Amino acid sequence: MVTNNFTTMSHLIAPSLLSADFANLKQDVIMVNNSDADWFHLDIMDGVFVPNISFGFPVIHYINKYAKKPLDIHLMIVEPDKFLNKFKEAGAEILTVHYEACTHLHRTIQIIKSSGIKAGISLNPHTPVHLLEDIIQEVDLVLIMSVNPGFGGQKFIENTYNKISELKQLIRNKKSSALIEVDGGVDSTNAKKLIQAGANVLVAGNFIFKSKNQQKTISELKYM
Ligand code: DX5
Ligand code: ZN
Repeated sequence: MVTNNFTTMSHLIAPSLLSADFANLKQDVIMVNNSDADWFHLDIMDGVFVPNISFGFPVIHYINKYAKKPLDIHLMIVEPDKFLNKFKEAGAEILTVHYEACTHLHRTIQIIKSSGIKAGISLNPHTPVHLLEDIIQEVDLVLIMSVNPGFGGQKFIENTYNKISELKQLIRNKKSSALIEVDGGVDSTNAKKLIQAGANVLVAGNFIFKSKNQQKTISELKYM
């Protein structure tokens, strides 16, 4: 159990719609609504920060129209400040920017929080946890990338466990209430170990949406 700004809870599951069926998106949103999942994870890619383009505001608008759970929006874009307000208006409840994409990260986090939503920072696999020392008290969430961002279905990077432990320690030392979210290559072979290392939120795309019984797969991750 973890107690923090959000609420008291066991770990959370955030299915990544990047692996959903975009020709039947409404159906997949309803599937998540009726599952044991906690959040919708939405991956926004601009083709500059990452070598891929995903989807933008019109799609988020329709996801938000049908979603009955919070939208956890992961921005893999340069200059996120330009669009923070638009993502909030589109329905974001949690807005995460990349450490590597923000020159004035402290300012960006303050802008997100002052708009009344939760603010997160994501770290690429090569970015060390200690760089968060002077900002960890300001954020609601840290998203540790366990693959290089840009694509679903990639292989999980084992060093993630060390990063989670280190981040957990930093959160304790600084008396921060940030949640730890892990994103990339999460499946039933690593989920338990990630939670044991200190993760609070598991994002999973391919593992859920490519499975035969998606709701059962979500429940498996939730109740391991
Ligand atoms: C990758 C994205 C992830 C991705 C996860 O850049 O941030 O959210 O959708 O997909 P899987 O679980 O398939 O690795
Ligand atoms: Zn993501």
